[in-house]
Amino acid sequence: MAKNILEIRGLVKRFGDFTAVNGIDFEIKEGEIFGILGPNGAGKTTTINMILGLLKPTSGTIVVNDIDITRGHGNEVKTMMGLMTQETVVDGDLTAYDNLEIAAQLYHVPKDKIPQKIKEALDEAELTQFSNRAAGTFSGGMQRRLALVKAMVQDPKLLILDEPTTGLDIQNRVSMWGHIKDLVKGGVTIILTTQYLEEADVLCDRIAIIDHGKIKAIGTASELKRMVGTGRMLEMIFEDSSHAQHGAEVIRSHFKVSATVKDDRVDAVIEKWDPRILTEVLSALDRKKIEVSSVNVHFPTLDDVFIKLTGSGMRDSASESYTSARSDMFVRGRR
Ligand SMILES: Nc1ncnc2c1ncn2[C@@H]1O[C@H](COP(=O)(O)OP(=O)(O)O)[C@@H](O)[C@H]1O
Ligand SMILES: [Mg+2]
Repeated sequence: MAKNILEIRGLVKRFGDFTAVNGIDFEIKEGEIFGILGPNGAGKTTTINMILGLLKPTSGTIVVNDIDITRGHGNEVKTMMGLMTQETVVDGDLTAYDNLEIAAQLYHVPKDKIPQKIKEALDEAELTQFSNRAAGTFSGGMQRRLALVKAMVQDPKLLILDEPTTGLDIQNRVSMWGHIKDLVKGGVTIILTTQYLEEADVLCDRIAIIDHGKIKAIGTASELKRMVGTGRMLEMIFEDSSHAQHGAEVIRSHFKVSATVKDDRVDAVIEKWDPRILTEVLSALDRKKIEVSSVNVHFPTLDDVFIKLTGSGMRDSASESYTSARSDMFVRGRR
């Protein structure tokens, strides 16, 4: 059994009378990728900054590798952790090589090991051929890759990635996921915060869903999805809201479930999925001349978990992950 590299108990942070982190508990095992998933303002960065020792908790304890850092700590804890934040932290005037060299010196990497470390880092970031170019001329994706390997030059035990892909386009985001996965093969423990449900789903061994400074649920992606049920999510979009109201009645009576209506859209959780019932529903809707514009059936996604737990979508990023994460079956334009 791997040991806990991090243990957080009853962590609270208040700014004046505003509570940003409202009593959270979790632990992370060595070698895990642990995701903190939540919308903008949920308290992710505040939590991270307390783990890094940059912010003093109002109450609670944080133990990193058996050291209670809330009682004050020295450099040994600092060099144990690497950080990459959502604001790219490379120096644009310096070459990729120099950025890495300065980081290596700052973190006291032994002098004779520095050239080899930099070579490996450039290789890992796929930047070897650009090593002598100013980082400021790099694309967003290249800069993030450089920032990522820069956070790793001192071989941290715990690598903290605070929204490492926010603002990147989807290609660059997926490429970053590959780099992050490669890092874990090297055995480093990672805490990753994200607003992207799909990112947490793809990368993380365990995920804490956080909203308004509280953990709403914690577990593997499949454990979290099972909280919604083992059935299917049914989403139907109708011609208009009046058709949707009538359509919801048909769905409720055939599937024997509750269904929610929002404008022209009906959502239902079908605990016992049977595609024949969907066929019956579609026939019944047809007979009643209720116009369906789209039908989507999918396994529960983290999005569904989030909605169930917090009563709302992921706000900033919901629509994007929603379309990319769906699966199973998609029937469009039945008219
Ligand atoms: N230094 C601060 N003073 C006052 N409020 C803050 C401060 N830092 C963060 N907050 C507030 O705490 C909440 C959580 O912020 P943050 O941890 O940055 O969220 P996240 O990283 O999940 O987007 C937000 O409402 C934010 O405005
Ligand atoms: Mg943040």
